Amino acid sequence: MNILALETSCDETGIALLAGAQEGMALTFTTRKAALLSQAALHAPYGGVYPNLAKREHEKNLPTLFAEFKDAVAEVDAIAVTHGPGLEPALWQGVEFAKKLAEEYGKPLLPVNHMEGHLVSSLARRDASAPEETYRLEQVELPVLALLISGGHTELVLMREWFAYEVVGKTLDDAVGECFDKVARMLGLSYPGGPEISKLADQHRTGKLSGAESFSVALPRPMLNSGTCDFSFSGLKTAVLYTLRTLTKERPLAAAEQAAFAAEFENAIGEVLVAKVRRALHDTGARTFVLGGGVAANRYIREQLQALVLEEFPEVELRTPELSLTGDNAVMIGHAALARLLMGRAEPRPPEEVRAVGNLSIAG
Ligand code: KG4
Ligand code: ZN
Repeated sequence: MNILALETSCDETGIALLAGAQEGMALTFTTRKAALLSQAALHAPYGGVYPNLAKREHEKNLPTLFAEFKDAVAEVDAIAVTHGPGLEPALWQGVEFAKKLAEEYGKPLLPVNHMEGHLVSSLARRDASAPEETYRLEQVELPVLALLISGGHTELVLMREWFAYEVVGKTLDDAVGECFDKVARMLGLSYPGGPEISKLADQHRTGKLSGAESFSVALPRPMLNSGTCDFSFSGLKTAVLYTLRTLTKERPLAAAEQAAFAAEFENAIGEVLVAKVRRALHDTGARTFVLGGGVAANRYIREQLQALVLEEFPEVELRTPELSLTGDNAVMIGHAALARLLMGRAEPRPPEEVRAVGNLSIAG
């Protein structure tokens, strides 16, 4: 089974051609071709994604990328497109493009939830022995608990049955990635800020920079003991703003101090994520824990969650995504679509019924 998948929910334009198959108890997803254009550099001056600019770029990029896939469309069994959540003007570009293709080539159109894309692609494991880029989805013990952390979302999702979701916790304000990006901007780092902060924090932890021996900073861990699985990061962001203001009254931070600050910020985020996942694993009895979303690329956060599962929930299986699939891309949308198609759970829609929904929930 072959599908063409499109992703335009934020600032990445992605198109991918995938082949899916059932092999015994496993589903396999092979990437035949994948193209991705990032607009990050264009949005950098704004310190975040500028929706109308994203829309214009998708409009320009989609036909350019599609030229590489044109010859293959006649052979696909369906066209999958992200219809939410995300920036609505950006989503519409992908949705309208996919609708036209579905009509022109007479193909079923499958609207895909972006968060399901992060979740399913993070559950699938790369098959290193396959000649082409192939992922296998197998031996997933339910229920699955997913921590989905990205620039727009921070949520703990429980999947008791395939494709049936319950949100057990979410952010009440900013998303983790958004908090990384805003704090990075305050520290004078470039967008997207997550990788920059993480690099600095690593330098501090590995003792690569000297000169911050007498420097100390303590940031809050918001809602650590709220008794719920919900998150809040806006207070942490405000605390960073005021703390930095005080610290830089006399002079800017030295490189080593900036790195120590980044490490404390990452520690605060890591501690909150670990506490909430601990609580959610405890409350739900999940058998599998999966981490997904752009922030899942963060090495420190991965290590902290890995340690939690290994030490306190040894019966739970941990799955983390391939680094190449953490940020937004069309391959992950293809994984979600193929998983549904191969399990007989896909719901193709007539093109005129497919709409972009900015605040689409994974829980339906
Ligand atoms: O999933 P994604 O590509 O886009 C959304 O759906 O939002 O996530 C992008 C977010 C950005 O906020 C970026 O700063 C963050 O992921 N990110 C990271 C790292 N790599 C990307 N945050 C922390 N550490 C990283 N290594
Ligand atoms: Zn995403």
